[in-house]
Amino acid sequence: MDAISVIRAKRDRETLTDEQIDWVIDAYTRGEVADEQMAALAMAVLLNGMTRAETARWTAAMIASGERMDFSSLPRPTADKHSTGGVGDKITLPLAPLVAACGAAVPQLSGRGLGHTGGTLDKLESIPGWRALLSNDEMMAVLRDVGAVICAAGDGLAPADKKLYALRDVTGTVEAIPLIASSIMSKKIAEGTGALVLDVKVGSGAFMKNIDDARELASTMVALGTDHGVRTTALLTDMSTPLGLTAGNALEVRESVEVLAGGGPADVVELTVALAREMLAGAGVHGKDPETALRDGSAMDVWRRMIAAQGGDPDAPLPVAREQHVVTAPSTGLLTELDAYAVGLCAWRLGAGRARKEDPVQAGAGVELHAKPGDTVREGEPLLTLHTDTPERFEYALAPLDGGITVAAPGTPFTPSPVILD
Ligand code: URA
Repeated sequence: MDAISVIRAKRDRETLTDEQIDWVIDAYTRGEVADEQMAALAMAVLLNGMTRAETARWTAAMIASGERMDFSSLPRPTADKHSTGGVGDKITLPLAPLVAACGAAVPQLSGRGLGHTGGTLDKLESIPGWRALLSNDEMMAVLRDVGAVICAAGDGLAPADKKLYALRDVTGTVEAIPLIASSIMSKKIAEGTGALVLDVKVGSGAFMKNIDDARELASTMVALGTDHGVRTTALLTDMSTPLGLTAGNALEVRESVEVLAGGGPADVVELTVALAREMLAGAGVHGKDPETALRDGSAMDVWRRMIAAQGGDPDAPLPVAREQHVVTAPSTGLLTELDAYAVGLCAWRLGAGRARKEDPVQAGAGVELHAKPGDTVREGEPLLTLHTDTPERFEYALAPLDGGITVAAPGTPFTPSPVILD
């Protein structure tokens, strides 16, 4: 077998055989297939697709590329959630401690930013001292003691995805349903969670731009999880505008802490509580209601212990970017559009994301929103604040906002999209 024949087969719209898939994933993991060959294959998959059977085999090969974890010794049932990625999607941060406070164990293996979407690990790393890399034993110890852990997937877990995820991020090959589904599900199945809730994002800021593609992605992933014995459900949620009022690393940690303190933006609270209920139902845990755990401080208590258990100081001040630039409302009226992709790209260009896989991210960079679609705004008043340590990026970062903000005449009928679409 050789990489060129596999690339040619997918380039020519053939269905890959089980042997081709098993070989290419294994050889890529071992370094025998080069990055540029895998990038070409990923592009061929993006352009020509894979059947459900090819996707299932690709996922199984990625699971088989590494070890599988086992949480059966834990005293509580496990539940995890995965988001397909969005702008301002900080939900994992309040959700993991919240679900633990309600009685399930949450082994949350998370990723770094991908394209214009932020990554949970990049966000948490803005907390001084916090460590994303834990050994399997350390992860189990935090889960046992605290009930929730958010960390990077160890090198042993789906190593094929680890390499491929970073490669896709920098080769324009993220937005392919088979690649997204197999990437997410290989990690989640290898991780060994009992229940899984998928938050499949739909809209300009998501990898799935329309609801039909999102439904296809959701049903592909639910089938993959169910076939491997994981109780898997999915919500389709809106990503036409950023979630909450922040997009960026430390900015989103700050907002998550507000939610855990019983406040925070309504859309973030609504989605966090809905996903928590879904996870608890999947795990068969019927204890404290998530809304109560946000109000009575128990979710915040788990958050503080979880951060401290991973070396972080939950009381340390969060990094703040050195420079700010305010974008004002162009006219007085009703804000009908604040496009998620435009804001995500702006935050990424400010330094919240990375252009090459080895790049660092800026902890303080990002965008703060002062209004959301449906709000009345006044000409000249602040609409967004842009944060960065490198002000020479402002012009480049402002460009995507052009055309992404619409203010309609006062009184224009407008109904904001619901957070949960299905
Ligand atoms: N999240 C993942 O883990 N993989 C993808 O491909 C996209 C989002």
